[in-house]
Amino acid sequence: RRVAAPVVAIDGPSGSGKSTVSRRLAAELGAQYLDTGAMYRAVTWAVLDAGVDPADADAVAKVAVDADLVIGTDPTSPHISVGTVPVDAPIRGAAVTAAVSAVASVPAVRQLLVARQRDIIASARSAAGIVVEGRDIGTVVAPDADLKVYLTASAAERARRRSTEVAADLAATAADLQRRDTIDSTRAVDPLTQAADAVVLDSTELGIDEVVHRLTTLLEAGA
Ligand code: DC
Repeated sequence: RRVAAPVVAIDGPSGSGKSTVSRRLAAELGAQYLDTGAMYRAVTWAVLDAGVDPADADAVAKVAVDADLVIGTDPTSPHISVGTVPVDAPIRGAAVTAAVSAVASVPAVRQLLVARQRDIIASARSAAGIVVEGRDIGTVVAPDADLKVYLTASAAERARRRSTEVAADLAATAADLQRRDTIDSTRAVDPLTQAADAVVLDSTELGIDEVVHRLTTLLEAGA
């Protein structure tokens, strides 16, 4: 039994290969793609743009309410704007990366973004389906997903991939990943956790093709 418009949840830490795998899988399925990390990053961009302190939870929540996120879910050209400003490039920069964990730990921000993510998923269910990547998709955002994946890789391999991606120093990248992993997995609200019914894939020694192939096979089997 192949689900016609599947909802696929892909969670895992930074550098696990989530984005590449999720986009590839969505393209193969002819489905939409939602990068929820980009949504937290876009709100963080708006916080910094407004000159607000990322540690000021009330002020951060207010910016999140006012920020008009415009989200494109085509896996071949994902896109996000805040109002009329495309923020695809700046949300990958060092300033946003340094502040995003603080912003993503504000409960009011999560509530707002989770509601928005659920709306997008509901629309996709009546279209071609969607692959959603993040930290809390299988546990909180879409516990009823057709397939839940927890993608991981060794800390050394994740640091190696990230530092290549952003052309940064390996030691500094490893330290930054460690810092974000700790904040993301220990925060009070919706920490990064593995759903009990998630398929766990370790991509340390698996290529992208192999991971995507395993996931399409699971979906075709009606996982
Ligand atoms: O996947 P990423 O590196 O773009 O995520 C950016 C940050 O947002 C990361 O620190 C964790 C947070 N995040 C989250 O808390 N919940 C999600 N569903 C996705 C990302």
